Amino acid sequence: MPNPATYPHLWLWDSCFHAVVWAHLGDERASRELEAVLEGQLSDGLVPHMRYGGQAPDTWLGPLRTTSSLAQPPMFGHAVKVLLAHGITPSPQVVSRARRGLDWLWTHRRTELDLLYVVHPWETGNDHSPRWDGWGAPGRTRDDYDRAARTAWNKLRMGDVTFHDDGAAAWSSAFVACPAGFNAYVAFNLAELAQVLDDPTMAERARRIATAMDEHLWDDEQSLWADLALVGGHGSLDATPISDGVMGALVTSDAGRAEAALAQLELPHRFGARFGPTNVARSHPAYDPGMYWRGAAWPQLNYLLWLALRRWQRLDEATALALRTRGSAVRSGWAEYWDPETGAGLGAVPQSWTGLAVAMTVEG
Ligand code: GLC
Repeated sequence: MPNPATYPHLWLWDSCFHAVVWAHLGDERASRELEAVLEGQLSDGLVPHMRYGGQAPDTWLGPLRTTSSLAQPPMFGHAVKVLLAHGITPSPQVVSRARRGLDWLWTHRRTELDLLYVVHPWETGNDHSPRWDGWGAPGRTRDDYDRAARTAWNKLRMGDVTFHDDGAAAWSSAFVACPAGFNAYVAFNLAELAQVLDDPTMAERARRIATAMDEHLWDDEQSLWADLALVGGHGSLDATPISDGVMGALVTSDAGRAEAALAQLELPHRFGARFGPTNVARSHPAYDPGMYWRGAAWPQLNYLLWLALRRWQRLDEATALALRTRGSAVRSGWAEYWDPETGAGLGAVPQSWTGLAVAMTVEG
């Protein structure tokens, strides 16, 4: 569990990150945790974003009783690769479930542009982002932001979602978007699994998504990848500068763009902060360093940004980020997220994915 009191269930990307941490510690629970989260897979292949421990949290997550109906960043492709690199062999069932999970997203969540879409903010992992403000969500600035009101708005949006026969979320009449971060994560996981399985089909899909991101999501003005609204929102690119917009560097083949995006992680008017990077650009009016997904620093994002920095050989910055993450993790009491200006711990304390600081510094 991410945290037994605040998050008493399995969450998809959390469990994949936990498996990465276990692998770095040489602990066999790496495969058990990956197995457990993939066991929630629906009959057509979606790996749901939550698998409930005991009772379902509420009735608003969809029609299913033991799992949610929503997607989340499918980090299991990367997790399988990390396990193997640490001498832990995931079961054949884990590998085939991981492949089917990625197949499902490719088959059921792809637009004609080769971009993948989400039907609810919870599917992005970044559920209160200013990038969703344009959908009429309550609160746009620090002063009028109310977390409970935003959560209530998110719950209401479940009422707009339609479902496939197996319970997987299919579409929404109010919120559909192709997020830069989510697309980068799917392409990255396809590429990671393609590499360990030597699978040209998955590798090709990863390339197609990355190419589509470069073609349709790149925002020259911000030098970031941005989100594309399909239903609701502005019906165009949302350029609110958030660090999810840097994640394209995990998969693009465009060195210039990767460099331009990654360089912003240390710029003080963008994402650079003493305990950062921040998740929202510091100069943006919505930036709120103490607020959930409105500017705070998140360890799992730091880990992904660290991978992206390493991919582009920005090794000094990668090491600095790893050390900063470790320092902030310890200072915050291994918090779920923290204030990038002060390092003060926020959210659930301790939170399991903050163990990624170990993965970053053992290898860093
Ligand atoms: C929150 C986060 C989500 C995470 C979950 C469990 O809902 O927004 O990304 O998976 O908590 O940690």
